[in-house]
Amino acid sequence: MSETKVLVLNGPNLSRLDLREKSFYGDISYSDIEVICHQAASEHGFQVEIKQSNDESELINWLHQAADSKTPVIFNPAAFTHYSYAIRDAVAMLKAPCIEVHLSNPLSREEFRHTSVIAGVVQGSIAGFGLESYRLAFAALGKLVK
Ligand code: DQA
Repeated sequence: MSETKVLVLNGPNLSRLDLREKSFYGDISYSDIEVICHQAASEHGFQVEIKQSNDESELINWLHQAADSKTPVIFNPAAFTHYSYAIRDAVAMLKAPCIEVHLSNPLSREEFRHTSVIAGVVQGSIAGFGLESYRLAFAALGKLVK
């Protein structure tokens, strides 16, 4: 049987993690996200496609494609988490599970990060474990999908 594909989507500024606040993100770069996602996908028997965009409309188009192909999604919407109703509406149209992930714990940060407009339309959210947040999301999908 062919492996289920998982789409990992990353929102704005995650491509420049190595230049962001080390107190929140540690000493990691975007390529570390790619590495852990490839490892975790193969541990759980998934194929994986990993994408990043700073552009809301591009993320929405990828979510539409995932909805049409019934692809499960692991999604770090980054700052769009806190205010993009357009992304929330696109996530709500997904047909397979979507797990929201964050490297940091937004609830321990500035007040504007305490709201996730995405959280209500995903299967569940994982935050605060650094790169491990992505690995935990694959473990969750391993239980939910197949
Ligand atoms: C983030 C948390 C967001 O508040 C922030 O805007 C990001 C990254 C995280 O992974 O911790 O860009 O989604």
